[in-house]
Amino acid sequence: MKEIKIKKNCFKISCIGAGYVGGPTMAVIADKCPHIQVYVLDLNKNRIKDWNSENPKDFPVFEPGLEEIILRTRGKNLFFTTDIEENISDSDMVFLSVNTPTKTSGIGSGRASDLRWIEKCARQVADASNGHTIVIEKSTLPVRTASTIKTILNSPSKKEDNKGKSFAVLSNPEFLAEGTAINDLENPDRVLIGGEDEKAIETLAGIYKNWVDDKKIIRTNLWSSELSKLTANAFLAQRITSINSVAAICEATGADVNEVSLAIGTDTRIGNKFLKSGPGFGGSCFKKDILNLVYLCRFFGLENISNYWESVVNLNSWNQNRITEIVVNKLFGTLAEKKIVLLGFAFKANTNDTRESSAITISKNLLIEGADLKIHDPQVSEKQISIELEKVLNNEVNTSFESEFSKFSFEKVDDIYDAFIDADAIIVVTEWEEYSKLDWEKISRLMRHPAWVFDTRSIVNKEEVLKTNINLWNIGIG
Ligand code: UDX
Ligand code: ADP
Repeated sequence: MKEIKIKKNCFKISCIGAGYVGGPTMAVIADKCPHIQVYVLDLNKNRIKDWNSENPKDFPVFEPGLEEIILRTRGKNLFFTTDIEENISDSDMVFLSVNTPTKTSGIGSGRASDLRWIEKCARQVADASNGHTIVIEKSTLPVRTASTIKTILNSPSKKEDNKGKSFAVLSNPEFLAEGTAINDLENPDRVLIGGEDEKAIETLAGIYKNWVDDKKIIRTNLWSSELSKLTANAFLAQRITSINSVAAICEATGADVNEVSLAIGTDTRIGNKFLKSGPGFGGSCFKKDILNLVYLCRFFGLENISNYWESVVNLNSWNQNRITEIVVNKLFGTLAEKKIVLLGFAFKANTNDTRESSAITISKNLLIEGADLKIHDPQVSEKQISIELEKVLNNEVNTSFESEFSKFSFEKVDDIYDAFIDADAIIVVTEWEEYSKLDWEKISRLMRHPAWVFDTRSIVNKEEVLKTNINLWNIGIG
């Protein structure tokens, strides 16, 4: 039996990874549990500096309600720091909340998760911890990753370092959606805890019970918990792909996808959420998690099931690409020397996250068609837009940034009405509220005619657009 050291009087949590999940999740735990010390650790010095900034505009993650929480907890029981080992060493609990992107090379490339960061974290915890530590998977991970983590935790770099250490590994996947993260964390539909160690499960449940009803805390085995997270995202993504496929049928048949959504969503078995057709799902999770499931199915020889889930991702790409085809067709088959305004670059409203945003594919396609692109987004920086487009265009032209990237014409605009001057088309890609309140009379006077607005989110004020001589294309309306 290992000797278990008592660490200190005050319960301490550390979270490795100060990203979109780690930052907001730890902020809410600190806010709801003033008796717990919460440390958010990251090796990225700039990220930590930004979380510690006096100006909330510098915080690396924009989430409604997050700023207020950080301002009232930071420095009291919430700390952002790069001192990783030191803080792991006296933590009772360590959350692993690091990035797990899809592998881009080697076995499983394009499907399996790249676990190098999670592995590194597990090694750090193995080496730096003291006494008994509960290690919690927060990042979405392939099924059975907990077993890898356990093996690493029980094999510190030097055998003698293992003395007095013990670990319990839990899976506690995060279901927050960006843009509503604070509400999702404060009022979760459920909290899922997977594990084998009863005491560890109840210790973690005890933290959530500070603000979540015990009835909402689901306890499962480790593998069910890991698989539930992948499956939840796969179901949600599949639902969006389903409604987007219906949108295309609506356009072909004269139906209206919003009416169809309403009609089917009133069936309580189907439910009315997540039935909004759009340019295709984006975000860091859906595509990655489905591809993970695809990889898992192939690994276990479940070829038909793997093809089934893969088709959801393929249809989503088809949907993103078809938006450009529609724009090009309506603009007489060419975008050369045409000014196109893209409204929104984030993958959804109320976030500054651009990962897998449909705006990236749409922008890339438009630029390759020769368009002069003006991009507006209330939260995404010009630098971030540039990084995303550079990545995707360089892949496309397969040549160096200096020689080829510069030929594409795009810029971020801050004054939205300036962007409309002499524009041939406007494409609404992200459903920011401000895009539903645009002054279409004014815009019509600024644009070059014949002018078009392509609304991929069904949020512009149709009546106001139709009062002008701007042509309107609305997703899912035939
Ligand atoms: C998702 C899951 O919702 C969340 O539970 C999980 O923890 C992480 O992945 P997120 O990616 O932040 O959250 O956003 P979500 O609201 O699910 O939207 C994902 C994409 O689907 C966005 O591009 C969004 O615009 C799109 N979407 C969503 C639609 O096109 N229509 C809808 O009806 C809903
Ligand atoms: P998510 O959306 O899952 O939160 P992000 O990419 O936003 O993912 O954040 C993950 C964070 O984890 C990044 O800030 C990255 O620097 C950090 N990170 C990755 N590996 C380690 C590690 N071994 N130690 C500390 N931080 C890490």
